[in-house]
Amino acid sequence: MYSDTEEISRSVKDTAMSIACEYKSGLEGIPASQSSISYIDGHKGVLEYRGIPIEELADRSTFIETTYLLIWGHLPSAAEVDAFEYEISHHRRIKYKIRRMMEYFPETGHPMDALQSSAAALGLFYARRALDDPQYIRSAVVRLIAKIPSMVAAFNLMRKGNDAVMPRDDLDYAANFLYMLTESEPDPLAARVFDVSLILHAEHTMNASTFSARVTASTLTDPYAVIASAVGTLAGPLHGGANEEVLDMLEKIGSVENVRPFVEDCIARKAKIMGFGHRVYKVKDPRANILQSLAEKLFDKFGHDKYYAIALELEKQISEKLGPKGIYPNMDFYSGLVYRKLGIPRDLFTPVFAIARVAGWLAHWKEQIGENRIYRPTQVYTGEHNMHYIPIDKR
Ligand code: CMC
Repeated sequence: MYSDTEEISRSVKDTAMSIACEYKSGLEGIPASQSSISYIDGHKGVLEYRGIPIEELADRSTFIETTYLLIWGHLPSAAEVDAFEYEISHHRRIKYKIRRMMEYFPETGHPMDALQSSAAALGLFYARRALDDPQYIRSAVVRLIAKIPSMVAAFNLMRKGNDAVMPRDDLDYAANFLYMLTESEPDPLAARVFDVSLILHAEHTMNASTFSARVTASTLTDPYAVIASAVGTLAGPLHGGANEEVLDMLEKIGSVENVRPFVEDCIARKAKIMGFGHRVYKVKDPRANILQSLAEKLFDKFGHDKYYAIALELEKQISEKLGPKGIYPNMDFYSGLVYRKLGIPRDLFTPVFAIARVAGWLAHWKEQIGENRIYRPTQVYTGEHNMHYIPIDKR
C-alpha cells in the first residue's frame, strides 16, 4: 500500500512519463486538426485538394477556381466562378494610406517582411469582425485574395522609388500580377505557367505556416492577423524561403562538373541541400514534377537556363545517394527556375509563394472557425523545481 502523498507523486510521475512518451520533436506525425481540405500520401507521391489530384487541377483548373474549391469545398459552377472572379478583380486596389505606409518601409527590407506588415495593416482598415456572418467571410476572402498580389507588386516598385502600377481589370489574376510587376502585359504562356504555379502552391495540409494560421484563427481574431502570422511563418528558409536559396546554391555550384564534389562535401558535413527532403514526402514531390515540366515549357519558348543542367545533375546524384533515406526534390527545387524565367526577382519568390498559399490559409481559417476550439497544447517541462530567489548581491 502507498500513502496518499506517495500515490499523488506516483500519479504525477506517470502523467509526466506518458506526456514525455508522446512528445515528438517538431510534432512529427501528431495530428493537429481534422481537415477535409487537402490530402497527401507521402509514399505514393499523391496530393489532392478536396479529393481531386493536383495533376488534374494543374492541367485543367485556374487558380481562382481552385481557391473557390479549397475554401468552399466544391468546384464552382460557371456563374459562381464568374461572380468570384468579378469581385476579386474589383478589389485589387490598395488603399492610398496603405501605399503611403509602404513608401516608408526601408527599401532594403525583405519583401516578406513588407508583406507581413501590409497584410496586418489591412486589419486596421477593415476592422469589423463578424466570424459567424458568411458575407463577412466572403468579403474578407475576396479582399485578401485580391489585395495580397497588389501589395507584393507595389512594394517591389516602391522600393525602387517608383509608383505602384494600378491593376488592370481586363487581365486575369495571374496576368494582372505579372503586369503589375513588370508594367507590361505578359505572354499568354507565361501567364498560364504562373497561374499553374499558384495552383501548385495553394495548399499543403498541416505545414508550419498553416498550423500557425490555424492557431491564430482559433483565438477568433480577424483574418488579416491570421494571414500576417502565416506569412511570418512561411518566410523562414526551412519552409517557403528555401526557393530563394536553391538558385543561390545552383549558382554557387556553377557547373555540372562541380555537382559531385558539392554533393560529397554536403554529405560529409551533414549540410542540408536546399530544395530536397520533406517531412511527409518520401518520394519526389508531385508538384516538383509539374514545375519541372513548366520550366521546360518556358525554356522551349523563351530560351534555356544554364542552371537547369546543374539542377538535373544534382537531382540525379542526390537521388542516388540520399534516395534510400527518402530524400528527393521538393516543390522548391524547380520553382525558382520557373520564377526566374517569368522575370520575378529572387527576393519575391517567397512572397509569390505566399500569394498562392493565402488560398489554403483562408480555407483553414474558415474550417477552424467553423468548428473552433482554441489551441492550448501542453509541454514537457524540463526545468528545475524548488529553486529560490537569490538577491542580486549574492549571485
Ligand atoms: N539535404 C540533406 N539531408 C537531408 C535533407 C536535405 N535537404 N533533408 C533531410 N535530410 C536528412 C537529415 O540530415 C536527416 O538525416 P539523419 O537522420 O541522418 O540525421 C534526415 O534526412 C531527416 O531530416 P530532418 O531535418 O529531421 O527532416 P525534417 O522532416 O525535420 O525536415 C525539411 C524537413 C524540409 C525541413 C528538410 O528536409 C530540409 O531542411 N530541407 C531543406 C530545406 C527545404 O528544401 N525546405 C523546403 C521544404 S518543402 C516546402 C515547404 O514545406 O515549405
